[in-house]
Amino acid sequence: MSDPIGEIRRQALDALQIIAEEKALASWRSQYLGRRGAIGALFGTIGGLPSEDRSAFGQRVNALQAELSEAFEAREALIQSQLLARDLEEGEIDISLPAYPRRGGGLHPSTRTHREFQTIWADMGFQVYQSRDVELDEFNFTLLNLPPHHPARDMQDTFYTKDPRVLLRTHTSPGQIRAMRELGDGGTKPIRVILPGMCYRQEQVTARSEIQFTQVEGLAIGRNIRMSDLKGTIAEFAKRMYNPRAKVRYRASYFPFTEPSMEVDVECFLCGGKGCRVCKYTGWLEIAGSGMVHPDVLRNGGYDPSVWSGFAFGMGPERITMLKHGIQDIRYFWDNDLRFLQQF
Ligand code: PHE
Repeated sequence: MSDPIGEIRRQALDALQIIAEEKALASWRSQYLGRRGAIGALFGTIGGLPSEDRSAFGQRVNALQAELSEAFEAREALIQSQLLARDLEEGEIDISLPAYPRRGGGLHPSTRTHREFQTIWADMGFQVYQSRDVELDEFNFTLLNLPPHHPARDMQDTFYTKDPRVLLRTHTSPGQIRAMRELGDGGTKPIRVILPGMCYRQEQVTARSEIQFTQVEGLAIGRNIRMSDLKGTIAEFAKRMYNPRAKVRYRASYFPFTEPSMEVDVECFLCGGKGCRVCKYTGWLEIAGSGMVHPDVLRNGGYDPSVWSGFAFGMGPERITMLKHGIQDIRYFWDNDLRFLQQF
């Protein structure tokens, strides 16, 4: 009795065994496994079989197809390794040739600075609180003592959505209210957080100002937090971030959500305070706005200002990144120009 399946199996495996190069291998594959190959032809004969034989026959063809595919792959691997060995032997592959350089990705310079910041603040006990970029006017301004029509709003024009109550935050400070409300447990728990993130302002884009930039906000709330804590904490940060002998100075300033408010300068780390172009010959670089959290703001966060106090600060990492890498133009940051990004 003829056994077409067994016959094809024998033929195919015999033929495969003596194949030694890729072209013959490919034609073997189309002869047996290809769309018009022998396996396909076997499947095509199923219809002409008595119906009780069809299923068993189909299963055998399936099994043969799997067996031949596997045999093919094994043979292919063997041939390729032999070809490789031959090429190596005949010197067609020069293994001393340098490999193509692999382009590794890098972190954005701003991301790097943020990570440095976060590491330092984490070491000092500050947890990261991720607030939101899209804010309510109420949180961005009103709850921070900037009611509608407050003149200080003019300094922070922003982008509004169709709903005039919803905007892109102009600073990370609205996160202060959110952190107090979320972590303060109804004004009963102390807080120590930093709030990093993107901020937006409607500005003329120039080499020094962009419509987007990042900030790192800091907030500490406790029962006995004083101005000396703020000063000491920022001075310690400056030592860890810039240099262990970095001097810091505080200048009286004004923010509606802190009272008193101070601007923080660190001794210029490029000239060591002697005065240079970067620090405009003052010897100092501004690194933060800061102050004691205003009683109204504490109240808006759920705290009783007669019991709780706190300090807050806001830093702008881009400026530090620019100084550190000698980046002359802030527009490079979000241009996504590879010629810039690849330098880091
Ligand atoms: N939010 C202020 C700004 O963007 C900075 C700041 C934060 C000042 C916290 C005081 C306290 O300019």
